[in-house]
Amino acid sequence: MKKKISFIGAGNIGGTMASIASGYNYADIVLYDINGDFAKGKALDISQMNVVNGHDTSIIGTGDISEINDSDVIIITAGFPRKPQMTRDDLLTANAKIIGLVATNVAKYAPQAFCIIVTNPLDLMVFEFQKRSGLPKHKVVGMAGTLDGARFKCFLAEEFNVSVKDIEATVLGGHGDSMVPVLSSVAVKGMRLGQMLKMNLTTQKRIDEIVNRVRHGGGEIVSLMQRGSAFYAPAACALEIAQSFLLNQNRVLTVSAFLDGEYGDIDGMAFGVPAVIGDNGVKRIIELNLDGHETQMLRQSVEHLESLIFKLS
Ligand code: NAI
Ligand code: 2OP
Repeated sequence: MKKKISFIGAGNIGGTMASIASGYNYADIVLYDINGDFAKGKALDISQMNVVNGHDTSIIGTGDISEINDSDVIIITAGFPRKPQMTRDDLLTANAKIIGLVATNVAKYAPQAFCIIVTNPLDLMVFEFQKRSGLPKHKVVGMAGTLDGARFKCFLAEEFNVSVKDIEATVLGGHGDSMVPVLSSVAVKGMRLGQMLKMNLTTQKRIDEIVNRVRHGGGEIVSLMQRGSAFYAPAACALEIAQSFLLNQNRVLTVSAFLDGEYGDIDGMAFGVPAVIGDNGVKRIIELNLDGHETQMLRQSVEHLESLIFKLS
């Protein structure tokens, strides 16, 4: 039997995900938006694209949330994106209301689903969604670390002039300016950053610039586009997580996941850490061996999130 993926929010990211996932063939798709006609229009467009591409995927566009019933995966992008000059945290109050509403509906119609939150401010929306839906913590994650990691790898591949396939790099922590690009994780086919610095393949100044660019990678795109925020890479990253669950791939992906004492006894918070994602959701959190500076930055990132949680009523 085919799987069922529902996208809540049919905007830039939701629509892009629906169009990519319609090529998978193993899952039927529901594209829901508060503006039902908008979702219907996009679904119709995608189903006509599928004719050309030879895909038989069923895709329904709808303004009726009950259509998400019995979904295997739900990916949530409902909410407002950033405008130039806004931080992700500026979206907190408006998007928390939307996420609270969505959470209630998911609990009602698809309580068994694996849920991937994309709406910003990411880690706080993961926290809010889990609290309002009551879904098990291992079935609720946020997408951000895979995106921030993709940006890190993209810039490092340019710096070293090698294929992106041969770059290892991880970004931990909250999806905001306090995120932690982990320099001790950087490698080109096993060659560590320290060795590359010694061989003059790069400089500390260049690496510092790359770290800064990763931290502000979302803002860079918002300023360039002026209308909305990034959506191609976010769509691909959220679907990478969904596929690992649906196909039980056990990929190690950085997701915003609930911690239970890992990383220096952090408890009850959701933020970016590598985790094994398979058919039960988060199967295991991977604890990286961080250096002192990285541990301190991670702590600051958690403290930033903790300082905002009280704003969620
Ligand atoms: P968009 O504005 O294109 O789409 C959002 C959609 O949500 C709109 O179609 C809107 O009608 C819909 N919506 C609003 N309230 C709703 C509700 N109650 N129920 C259902 N749908 C509702 O925005 P885009 O670009 O798709 O971004 C979505 C979110 O993802 C934003 O909050 C953005 O900041 C965030 N984002 C997160 C990233 C991450 O790494 N986690 C990366 C990029 C964006
Ligand atoms: C991004 O990182 C804005 O969170 C969004 O592109």
